[in-house]
Order: sequence, then structure tokens, then C-alpha cells
Amino acid sequence: MLVRVLAVGDVVSEPGLRHLEKHLRSLQKCEGISFTVVNGENAASVGLTPEQAWRIYDAGADVVTLGNHTFGKMQIADFLDDTPWLLRPANFTGRAPGRGCGVYDLGGVRIRVMNLIGRCDLSWGADNPFTAADRNLERGEAELTVVDFHAEATSEKLAMAYYLDGRVSALWGTHTHVPTADQRVFPKGTGYLTDLGMTGAVESVLGIQPQQSVEMFLGGLPGRFRPASGPCKAQGALVTLDSATGLCTAVERVDIR
Ligand code: FE2
Repeated sequence: MLVRVLAVGDVVSEPGLRHLEKHLRSLQKCEGISFTVVNGENAASVGLTPEQAWRIYDAGADVVTLGNHTFGKMQIADFLDDTPWLLRPANFTGRAPGRGCGVYDLGGVRIRVMNLIGRCDLSWGADNPFTAADRNLERGEAELTVVDFHAEATSEKLAMAYYLDGRVSALWGTHTHVPTADQRVFPKGTGYLTDLGMTGAVESVLGIQPQQSVEMFLGGLPGRFRPASGPCKAQGALVTLDSATGLCTAVERVDIR
């Protein structure tokens, strides 16, 4: 059985949330998508509240993944423990609330979703994501496995793809908010894209008002992030997975405006 899985890049602030709510259901219907993973760690610019997590879920996400801003809004901590469809990176310390990997039933096909965080230029003191991936692949049983690797360095994401090639159905990167053009199926059958991009304002720097970003790079005072407004985009990838082999047959990029 072929399963179409949609991965949506980091949703940034209210404009990104509204754009997702407006477009996700119709995209799922048009493209025959049966499972959707959305990275939601920037729904409040830095972090997300339980209410914002529910909005992403109600918009059509089956699983919401996070990253370095997981605890940007601390009220998410208890919610992480109580919510099986909300994942924080699996290689956070064992003292962190929540879980980083889950298995979900698609009616006859089980799909494992794993969220990992990179260690290059992300000062989280996270566990090794490569060995964490190994450990989590041994947990539970599933025909399909997809991975959101929330990481800064393209090299770390590519290395992870070679490490997991043939052992997971698809792996995509999040965090940089800038989509890459390297979608493909790896030699042993894993679908891959280095970064999905983002869901938020087109005229922005990673979803933030350009003037604020320019001011920051000029050496001005740092301030609370001000999300940009105006027309939005929703970027991501659509992967076609074969439940018989557990591997990927096609990867397409998505950019909904
Ligand atoms: Fe991030």
C-alpha cells in the first residue's frame, strides 16, 4: 500500500498559523495525503502554547514536532507529557518532559515518527542524535518510519540521511526556515530533503520583520521577535511511502501560497 505523507516546515507566529488553517485540509484532500507532520516550534515565534499546538492539530496535523525552541513557552511542559501527538526531540536529556518518538495507526499501517535535534550550532547539550536514532528505531513496531531532524548544519542532516538510509522511510530537516532543492530518494530507499522551509510571511527574515533583523545585524539592541505580516507561504515535502518495503518511492517539494 502506498502512503502519502506530508511534512510541513516550521510554522511561524499567527500569520503562519492562519495560513496553515486556511490551506492544509484542502491540500490533504487534493493530494490524497493520509498523514501529516507539522513542525510547530515557532508558533509563538519562540516556542508554542498548548492552544497553538491544538490549532495546528485541528488544522489537520497528525503529529506536531518541535526543536530548540520546545520550551520557549514553559506552559507546554505539562502538555508534552499528556499529548501523544506532540513530540519534542528524542535526544533531549531524559529529565525533559514529553517524548520524542511515537507510533501511530493509519488503519492497517503503523507509522513511527521520530523527532531529533542536531548538535552543530545548537547549544542544547543534546545527546548524540545518531545513536538516539538507533535506540528509538528499536522501540515499538511499525511498517513506516519518518524523521524530522531539527538541525542547523546541512552536513549533519546529510550525514544522518546516509546513516539511516534504508532503515527509515523518509527523513527531512527543519529549523533553518529556508527550503533546499535537494529532494530525492537515497540509494537504499530513504526519501530525503535537507530543509523543508517554513510556513509564514513571504516578506520576512525567517518569519520575522526584515527591519528588525537588519537592525540586529547592524548591531542594534536585541528585542522580542516581531513576526512579519502580509502574504504567506506553506513549504514542505510530500513523500510517497510503500508499506510493503518501508521505503520511499518519490519526494516532491510543496510551496503553497
Ligand atoms: Fe528551530
